[in-house]
Amino acid sequence: MKYIDELKGDDLKGKYVLLRLDLNVPVSNGQVVNAYRIDRAIPTIDYLREHGAKVIIIAHTESDANMTLVPVAQYLSGFFKIDFCQTYFNPIAIDKISKLEDRGVLLFENLRINPEEKENNIEFAKKLAQMADIYVDDAFGAMHRKHASIIGVPEFLPHYGGLLLKQEIENLSKVFSPKKPFLFIVGGVKFSTKLPLIKKYLDKADYVFIVGALANGIFKEKGFTLGTSLSIDGDFGIKELMNKDNFLYPIDVTVQKSDGSFEFRNPDEIGNDEYIGDLGPKTMEKLKELIGISKTVVWNGPLGDFEKGFKDKTEQLAEVIMKATEEGKIESIVGGGDTLASININEFEHGFTFVSTGGGAMLDYLVNETLPGIEALNK
Ligand code: 3PG
Ligand code: MG
Repeated sequence: MKYIDELKGDDLKGKYVLLRLDLNVPVSNGQVVNAYRIDRAIPTIDYLREHGAKVIIIAHTESDANMTLVPVAQYLSGFFKIDFCQTYFNPIAIDKISKLEDRGVLLFENLRINPEEKENNIEFAKKLAQMADIYVDDAFGAMHRKHASIIGVPEFLPHYGGLLLKQEIENLSKVFSPKKPFLFIVGGVKFSTKLPLIKKYLDKADYVFIVGALANGIFKEKGFTLGTSLSIDGDFGIKELMNKDNFLYPIDVTVQKSDGSFEFRNPDEIGNDEYIGDLGPKTMEKLKELIGISKTVVWNGPLGDFEKGFKDKTEQLAEVIMKATEEGKIESIVGGGDTLASININEFEHGFTFVSTGGGAMLDYLVNETLPGIEALNK
């Protein structure tokens, strides 16, 4: 794959660059509430502008009821002058493109207002490609999607990876041959989506520690009562995993009782009216101990139900991992959309070796060691 840092001077001057970004960020009341992904995309926009390109940005969102990128355009306008186009391929769009100056930036409305995007419609991809001279993909977080803007467009234009994509690949690929001992902490909610990851890393890592609501699936398999906690249904082959020595899970949890108070419990002592919201202190100690003897720590998925306010243990874990990283004892890689949302990542970011902007994309990359969007750029 070629990256844009190979493009210099006249390669970009006056050229139309179609830049695919992942600007899918949480929005509330028409305002971006966590700009982390947008901020990480800015170096590529800056690079293209500094080299005199005309930048056409395409991106998707599903995070807002209105499905619009207007809040993102407003956020970006704090960095540079930006025009916004609500429609595709009509006279208004053509006019806006023709008026784009060197160093200018035009953001198109949510790609997914076009059903052809998700269908990877080849005519749609061709029309997108016709808007520009060069295609740049820096949408790491969306590169697990076989959508027109990701895998279709590069068939029709010279194509390059962006600066964020380069960082993601360079850092995440370290996990394929990690410094050992290697601790992999996997949290979140959906066992089915994390299962391939857990299976693969049980063979690669010294310890795979399951946290968050995923652990409820293990408790259920053991026949424990889950009370009012999130239940994980279906046979995901958890039993088979439980036989492995390096498969670890919480030895205690924090529950909320029906009167709103909190208690620590062993997982086999959950009351019928109790809700598992977070790990317990003994489990936290165990995690600290493992971090203390590890050289690589990868963490994907929150420890507790942060949307209900269970943030303590996730924040404590972030602190412990950052401290060990700062002391040069471990390399730490953190990612997953919910993990970033559950800790205030803008505050924490600098303490980790690398923070991935990918959710599903990070998981798929760690499992398959490539993504459809990467393959499309490699062609
Ligand atoms: C994400 O938020 O993980 C990416 O932007 C991909 O979004 P999607 O899951 O809606 O395809
Ligand atoms: Mg998603």
